[in-house]
Amino acid sequence: MKLHEIEIVTQCGESVYIECASNEDIITAGLRQDIILMSSCREGGCATCKGLCTDGDYDLVKCTVQALPPEEEEEGHVLLCRAFPKSNMRVEVPYTADRISTTATESKRDFFAELIKITPVASNTVEVTMQRIPDELSGSDVNVSFEPGQFFDIQLPGTDLWRSFSPSNLPNKDGILEFLIRILPDGRFSNFLSYDAKAGQVLNLRGSSGSFYLHDNGLQARYFLAGGTGLSPVLSMVRKMYDQGDPQETRLYFGVSKQEEVFYVNELNALSEKMRNLTVKVSISHPDLDWIGEHGNVVETLRKDLEISGAKPDIYLCGPSGMVDATYRMCVDLDIPKSNICTEKFLPSGSASE
Ligand SMILES: Cc1cc2nc3c(=O)[nH]c(=O)nc-3n(C[C@H](O)[C@H](O)[C@H](O)COP(=O)(O)OP(=O)(O)OC[C@H]3O[C@@H](n4cnc5c(N)ncnc54)[C@H](O)[C@@H]3O)c2cc1C
Ligand code: FES
Repeated sequence: MKLHEIEIVTQCGESVYIECASNEDIITAGLRQDIILMSSCREGGCATCKGLCTDGDYDLVKCTVQALPPEEEEEGHVLLCRAFPKSNMRVEVPYTADRISTTATESKRDFFAELIKITPVASNTVEVTMQRIPDELSGSDVNVSFEPGQFFDIQLPGTDLWRSFSPSNLPNKDGILEFLIRILPDGRFSNFLSYDAKAGQVLNLRGSSGSFYLHDNGLQARYFLAGGTGLSPVLSMVRKMYDQGDPQETRLYFGVSKQEEVFYVNELNALSEKMRNLTVKVSISHPDLDWIGEHGNVVETLRKDLEISGAKPDIYLCGPSGMVDATYRMCVDLDIPKSNICTEKFLPSGSASE
């Protein structure tokens, strides 16, 4: 079968080339050639593999609307795990060349971590702490490296199911990973955490992956909006800004529906005390009478602030798909350039096949 040449152009202008037949998707073709592009679900549901095709023809199959809305598809955006080429193609990806591994195999990115503790922090959220353990490949090195904002895939023990979760802490040499995880009714991983997981248990992790991380845009202000456990990667990004002393105006909008669902208010207040350029607003849609923070939908809180100030900051959005889409549209309506809006949707697993 004829092989097509796929040019992947990274944010830094470097290109990598993949040969791809018309009956295989571009992510799979890359893996076959030891070129590991950004991907996660590999079934059209998470948008991690999204790129912009500027030349060439292709078929796209089974992408979810959340991962690839029709207007983006019309603009030429593609999900590389669902794109089957019909000719040579040129695709621009929103990450730099150092995010593409060209030597390691996918399995070499797997590692093991011990479950240290699971702490409930709200009615539907737990904080999960893990510690990487040494293995044959790492030797005594238990360093966890990732770009704050990225996620890891964690295998549900005893199954071949994987779930994506984003750490809230910073990369570190001690191998500690902290996650904020929403407990979903009858979720497979949620049930494991609620009923079966035990301290000392060893889990299989893979990663890091994803293109949701801080982008350098000079001293442009950065506004973050997190819904529920969308706070996890956002916190990691803001902690990185504090760590490296980034001076630009920074705002963190955090929203939940009910007061029993709110968490980390003290942590956020403590962070804004020491990070002088950070403003935190916590919004609850249906608060109790004693709530002294923002009342109402967090998207509205952000909209009002943007309208009043006329600011056009870089925007980082993370959380449920509907909230991310609504905020994205609102920001575009307020003339914030699309290229300054970075999103991560916490899509359900297996959503492409549903
Ligand atoms: C890149 C990425 C990073 C993520 N990071 C985090 C994170 O840091 N913290 C976190 O809490 N979640 C995160 N998620 C979402 C998380 O991976 C899914 O919610 C997870 O698959 C749920 O696993 P489960 O086995 O408990 O539920 P499942 O068994 O997968 O689902 C059970 C039921 O819940 C529904 N469901 C599943 N997920 C959701 C959802 N997100 N919203 C509403 N209904 C849902 C399903 O449709 C199903 O009916 C992330 C998702 C992605 C794609
Ligand atoms: S990896 Fe392609 S959509 Fe998830």
